[in-house]
Amino acid sequence: MCGIIGYTGYREAVPIIQTGLGRLAYRGYDSAGIAVCANGEIACRRAHGKLENLIDKMARDPIAGSTGIGHTRWATHGRPSESNAHPHCYGRFAIVHNGIIENFMQLRAELKERGHVFSSETDTEIIAHLIQEEYDKKRDFITAVRCALHLVRGSYALVVICADAPEQIVAARNQSPLILAKGENETFATSDITAVLAYTRQFTFLEDGDIALLTPNEIAIYDAHNRPVQRPTKTVQWDVAAAEKQGYPHYMLKEIEEQPQKITDTLRGRILEDEVSINLDDAIDELHLENASSIQIVACGTSYHAGLVAKFYFEKFARIPTRVDVASEYRYADPILSPCDAFIAISQSGETADTYACVKLARRAGAKILAICNVIDSTIPRASDATFYTRADPEIGVASTKAFTTQLVSLLLLAIHLGRTRATLPEDEARRALHALRTLPKLMEDTLARAQDIPKAAQKLLRANSFLYLGRNTLYPIASEGALKLKELTYIHAEAYPAGEMKHGPIALIDDRLPVIVIAPQNATYEKTLSNLQEVKARGGRIFSIVSQGDDAVARISEHAFTIPTCDETVQPLLCVLHLQLLAYHIANMLGNDVDQPRNLAKSVTVE
Ligand code: M6R
Repeated sequence: MCGIIGYTGYREAVPIIQTGLGRLAYRGYDSAGIAVCANGEIACRRAHGKLENLIDKMARDPIAGSTGIGHTRWATHGRPSESNAHPHCYGRFAIVHNGIIENFMQLRAELKERGHVFSSETDTEIIAHLIQEEYDKKRDFITAVRCALHLVRGSYALVVICADAPEQIVAARNQSPLILAKGENETFATSDITAVLAYTRQFTFLEDGDIALLTPNEIAIYDAHNRPVQRPTKTVQWDVAAAEKQGYPHYMLKEIEEQPQKITDTLRGRILEDEVSINLDDAIDELHLENASSIQIVACGTSYHAGLVAKFYFEKFARIPTRVDVASEYRYADPILSPCDAFIAISQSGETADTYACVKLARRAGAKILAICNVIDSTIPRASDATFYTRADPEIGVASTKAFTTQLVSLLLLAIHLGRTRATLPEDEARRALHALRTLPKLMEDTLARAQDIPKAAQKLLRANSFLYLGRNTLYPIASEGALKLKELTYIHAEAYPAGEMKHGPIALIDDRLPVIVIAPQNATYEKTLSNLQEVKARGGRIFSIVSQGDDAVARISEHAFTIPTCDETVQPLLCVLHLQLLAYHIANMLGNDVDQPRNLAKSVTVE
């Protein structure tokens, strides 16, 4: 998520905005900028890279004013660069934006027809142009912003300044957080409490559709129907460290809990209004992956597990034979790859050395290369033919959580799209799968609400020396992901097995000291997994299960059973993994481990 701060008051805006942006830097960003109202004009400075670059630039070429806006950008549309950095200025306005404008291509084309010239590749810049057009008609600041926003579809936290109104800020919100704050003769608009905690503790949270006019002494809020509204003001007691985590004790817990919202972001604008067509970037369409004779996926760690689940999606929906390899193995395996094959590299960071080496290998083989990545314009996307961005926002916890579920959603969308293009997936089945995806954020919220008992189960597991995780089909990679999370965070050994394979060896391990974590929701293999569990039970094993709501049989033989709501089988992996993330998190926390930065691990593995 990009960081936003707006200020109007009796002091110089620039130092306040610079300090606020510094407070937001912990979340990661690729560029930054500040604009102020100065002597009846807008003055703006922007810089690619670190905030220090912006500060240096402003020291050489200062700007001043008591009303201003600032932004740290995490690229979503358009590469990280100075011209794509915010604020975007046009005519009498400067704006900063967090969110995604879904109909920006169409609006940009219409604006171009009316003679507008753009200086960036962003979706944001069109809003500045629309505001200026409306202002030319209405000559009223807040009305112009409101009318412009009626034309856009998508999510936004938007903060605007106008050269003709040097003591005013307009702020608007739809599906992206925006917070207003009031001090003595000064007001603020911000994406994060952290940015302005040094000046005030009184915060007002805007709701979707709200638009507000801020002056140094007043905040006036209007709802989506343009009616004046009062939103409750909260006094926040957090210190800066707690505020950075939005009150959560760890980034990892925050990132687990925000997965429903991140999935909404991944899906935004990608399922069309007919509810069966999928909208991908042109560059992805141009690859014509539907003609591939096979798909080769490579990745590491959690991203590799996403690839293993995706194999089921590609083979089931698109009927394309799919192979998944760990990148560090694949690069030395003398693999068979040809220009007829599609090559998919999955990487949260886009910087993983082994995965990047495989992309170069695929390039030499002439395969079509698609990256599934979270970080815009990182190394792997730049080396690929096209990229499907997961839009999970920066992930700070070293253990990957929201990056994984957004990768799965991206891969599932791609598989459904290929299935439709190849006519291997009937329309009614595609509709059903896409309906399951659209309801997924709600199902995830429901699942997270059912996880209250996990700390109780975690307490019982603290002294175990080893764990066995079991699952079948798409849920076997989820078992592997659960075991990886446990190892990374708790430093306890864990191993995942396909449930049906247990009797071929690991069953010898079963006794009352080996907790067995089994993923067994209602699906085509439920009965089979139940039989495997009877074998565990008969040998005195301790079973902790993930089951569908209303399950009786597996739950009855489990010490603890965590439920997921009734849902389409396709999205079960995305719900089951939430319980496994939380289980690992709580055990690690109870053991006193550093949950956000487990020992020996790095967030981005840029060496072999
Ligand atoms: O950035 P990438 O997705 O390429 O990273 C791959 C792995 O290093 C990463 O998933 C790692 O396994 C995480 N720590 C898992 O939580």
